[in-house]
Amino acid sequence: MNILVTGAAGFIGANLILSILENDPDACITGIDSMNCYYDVSLKEYRLDLVSRKAASCRKGPGTWRFIRGNIADKALIEKVFSEFRPDIVVNLAAQAGVRYSITNPDSYMESNITGFYNILEACRHSYDGGNQGVKHLVYASSSSVYGANGKIPYSTDDKVDSPVSLYAATKKCDELLAHAYSKLYDIPCTGLRFFTVYGPAGRPDMAYFGFTDRLLAGKSIKIYNYGNCLRDFTFIDDIVEGVRLVMASAPERSTGADGLPVPPYRLYNIGNGKPVNLLDFVTVLQEELVRACLLPSDCDFGALRELVPMQPGDVPVTYADTSALERDFHFTPHTGLRTGLRRFVEWYRDFYKGKDSNGF
Ligand SMILES: NC(=O)c1ccc[n+]([C@@H]2O[C@H](COP(=O)([O-])OP(=O)(O)OC[C@H]3O[C@@H](n4cnc5c(N)ncnc54)[C@H](O)[C@@H]3O)[C@@H](O)[C@H]2O)c1
Repeated sequence: MNILVTGAAGFIGANLILSILENDPDACITGIDSMNCYYDVSLKEYRLDLVSRKAASCRKGPGTWRFIRGNIADKALIEKVFSEFRPDIVVNLAAQAGVRYSITNPDSYMESNITGFYNILEACRHSYDGGNQGVKHLVYASSSSVYGANGKIPYSTDDKVDSPVSLYAATKKCDELLAHAYSKLYDIPCTGLRFFTVYGPAGRPDMAYFGFTDRLLAGKSIKIYNYGNCLRDFTFIDDIVEGVRLVMASAPERSTGADGLPVPPYRLYNIGNGKPVNLLDFVTVLQEELVRACLLPSDCDFGALRELVPMQPGDVPVTYADTSALERDFHFTPHTGLRTGLRRFVEWYRDFYKGKDSNGF
């Protein structure tokens, strides 16, 4: 089984590859990542190092893990990778993520999320040329951001999501439409996954929980948007990875409609915890875990470090996943509790940054 993972050095990509290496010794994995500097590249290198070491420790030989530093917006490169590697399963995680960054840097969203994903779809389409068996399943990352300011909770994949409130969300919705069209036209088995606020060890420094930790340890205050009236469906990385692997193994069936044309073998799922947490409660648990890990003193005046500020453009007050389709089709529900997940993050943070600075006391 040849598996191509784009965004391989990213938070979700690297964790997914680690899990495949651990659980599927026959898989041959190729990872692509541009290693862009949207956030600290050393974190991406650290994740790749974990992957290489895992591959060396549990694989049968060389060639079963290969990393290509490259841009999915480079069409010639993607064509070459597909023709040489002939992936059975493609997991497209490469993207320019982040809602706020899309306000100041729209170009990178168009390049990675639109042109890059289009190249992946074209390569999947041409993988069937000449009667080849081609790609058996394309799995791609969408986002809870597509729900925008959805009035109805929990958010269901049946809800109408035509009103994005950020460019990032618009590009992810666009990916869903492109994937559906390609699935229909070229009979590509395809599954889109709307991830909900993923967190965990070696996560993304641009995300609130990571930024809060950096600032609190530097003795700086943290900004809590919408005066704390935010509910977020925080989802632990291990749950996301488990969900992705279950989905990868089960491609939608191909079938023919009454018109003699393919019924698109296309599905869409939410992967979220399904238990949204108030941002202030989230911060309280994070602070308690920072004290527990001896990164902050127990007499720290946390009240003084919280700045309650208005909502930011592009933000939404609530995210809340309806995961019933995931439960129905895969008997899977994300289950990691917030305290367990944040403890894992904080312990990783302490160990990773130990010695890099002197925040400890
Ligand atoms: N983490 C979350 O909370 C979350 C939530 C919803 C959706 N998602 C989606 O899940 C996917 C993975 O997210 P993540 O949190 O791991 O983000 P990440 O930024 O850690 O990983 C994405 C990786 O893709 C790479 N990349 C970006 N553009 C590229 C390009 N043009 N060519 C090759 N590589 C490129 C980056 O270098 C990065 O390593 C993304 O599609 C993201 O939009 C993530």
